[in-house]
Amino acid sequence: MKPEVVSFLLNNREVVIIAPPLVTLQTVLREQFELTATKAGCLQGGCGSCTVLVDGEPMVSCLLPVQDIDGRAVTTLEGLTTAATELHPLQESFFENFATQCGFCTPGMILVSKALLDHVPHPSRAEIAEAISGNVCRCTGYQSIIEAIAQAAERAEEVPA
Ligand code: FES
Ligand code: FES
Repeated sequence: MKPEVVSFLLNNREVVIIAPPLVTLQTVLREQFELTATKAGCLQGGCGSCTVLVDGEPMVSCLLPVQDIDGRAVTTLEGLTTAATELHPLQESFFENFATQCGFCTPGMILVSKALLDHVPHPSRAEIAEAISGNVCRCTGYQSIIEAIAQAAERAEEVPA
C-alpha cells in the first residue's frame, strides 16, 4: 500500500496530508496537528476518549483510517471555539458542575454532548445517559456529567433566538 493524499476540513480549515497506509485519524490529529485534546485511551474503540465529530457526528478516531475522512469535515475539541481562551457553553457547564476531574474523558464527552444537543436540543436525562453510554469516565460517576449537559441545554433554551 502506498501513502495517499487526503484532504479534509479540520476545525473549519482546509488541510491536505500525505497519509501512510493504515494510519488512524487519532494519530494524525495528535502527532501531526498536535491537537492533543483527542485522547489516546484504549485504542480499541471501547472508551470514547478519542471521539471527534466527522460531519457533525461523533466517531472514535482510534479506529478510523484517515483515508476514510477524505473530503469530510472533522471537529475536535479545539475547534469548538475560535479562541484558545474562550470556553464553549458545554465546557463552562462541565466546569461548574464538577463534571471534569482528571479530564481524560472530557473532550470526548463534550463532543458527544454537542452532537446530541445539535440533534435533540432538549434531551431528557435518559437520552443524555444513552448518548454518553459509549464514553467511559473513571472519575465522576457520570451524574455530574449528565447534569452539566442538561444545564447547557437549559441555558441554550434561555438564549433569545
Ligand atoms: S482510544 Fe479510541 S475508543 Fe478508546
Ligand atoms: S474525568 Fe477522569 S475519566 Fe472522566
